[in-house]
Amino acid sequence: MSRIKQVHARRIWDSRGRPTVEVDVITESGALGRGIAPAGASRGTREAIERRDGGTRFGGLDVMLAVRGIQTEIAPALLGLDVIEQEKIDTLLIALDGTADKSRLGGNALIATSLAVLHAAAADAHLPLWRYLAKDAVVQLPLPQIQIFGGGAHADRRVDIQDFMVIATGARSFAQAMEMTAEVYRHAGLLMKQRGSSQGIADEGGWWPAFKHNEEALDVLVMSIESAGFVPGQDVSIALDIAASEFGHGGRYTLGLEKKELDSDALIEKLLKWLDKYPIVSIEDPVAEDDRKGMIAFTKAVAGRVQVVGDDYLVTNAKLVQEAAQQKACNAVLIKPNQAGTITETYAALKAAQQAGYATIVSARSGETEDVAIVHLATGWNAGQLKVGSFARSERMAKWNEGIRVETTEPHPAGYCWQALKRD
Ligand code: PGA
Ligand code: ZN
Repeated sequence: MSRIKQVHARRIWDSRGRPTVEVDVITESGALGRGIAPAGASRGTREAIERRDGGTRFGGLDVMLAVRGIQTEIAPALLGLDVIEQEKIDTLLIALDGTADKSRLGGNALIATSLAVLHAAAADAHLPLWRYLAKDAVVQLPLPQIQIFGGGAHADRRVDIQDFMVIATGARSFAQAMEMTAEVYRHAGLLMKQRGSSQGIADEGGWWPAFKHNEEALDVLVMSIESAGFVPGQDVSIALDIAASEFGHGGRYTLGLEKKELDSDALIEKLLKWLDKYPIVSIEDPVAEDDRKGMIAFTKAVAGRVQVVGDDYLVTNAKLVQEAAQQKACNAVLIKPNQAGTITETYAALKAAQQAGYATIVSARSGETEDVAIVHLATGWNAGQLKVGSFARSERMAKWNEGIRVETTEPHPAGYCWQALKRD
């Protein structure tokens, strides 16, 4: 047993230069665990709610109230508890907050605390986090989805689609997937320069999408794969996050670039055409979070061909995952700890997905920090896949580099999930 002796909360800054919550949990044995809350820009409406101060300071985004809530309410309740009792502590956090959407103490306060407890337990056991989580199970490093162009809410809606990503389907190790992606990312940058459309990068480090339409981004992505010397669809394939909730409600979708309004059927038809034309292996949130009919229709239409990922649609919620499985909507789920609000609820969503035969992709947010916990969650929980953003900026590279460390440090996981993509 190792009791929690101190809990410190402070405001730090995320990758967009916005305030966020950091928590340190220290045990009687001297073990330190640190948790940091990430922040989304294209959030699902059913996610745990962040507590932000409002007003004019930092655009209303300050988190001093969330920090104070940890200091005055959460810390006193945690002192003396056994740090390895994650579920008990998370249940207490949920009860202390007392709301269904975690809006009183804040999902940001809760996830930073919950993660800090988890890190402290692993530190107390003198184990790397992935190993602490895996216990005796055989686990593998995740297959990465890596952004090359960032659009949607991460690039002032320059293009409608949010993430144009690659999956190095030909790689047989995590390190090799990094090498292959590095070449594609570099060649994409060179191509943008040659076309005179190099305008920096978007929120997650992907190249700024200076394109005339969504298809042009897809064309340049395929060209980038080829000019890096790879065979599209074989060595390197495409994954998209449509993030359709950002431009569609009530079954109507507005494509800003083309100034077109589509209904759900027309959007699905457009995506199906892309699937025929481009080597796409995974599509996230193809329709909006409120378009159940569309999600079921899309999943049915692509059965046996591609992975259909629910992000805003499932918000890391075990109940929503179970419902979707019954309705045959999606065949994979994005797992974002701060959507759920605690580690225990995050794990419950992952387990529900695994039980339903869904693929699972542990994911970062567009607002990130140096925290690398998600790499360990993806590995230790044997999630199969990992989505972190692009191949640039240290809040992203910290995570990819951590994967390389996990792969090359003894004792390491039992291999690499190169076959984790779901197709049926
Ligand atoms: P967000 O985007 O972190 O801005 O919500 C990530 C995603 O939609 O996958
Ligand atoms: Zn998404």
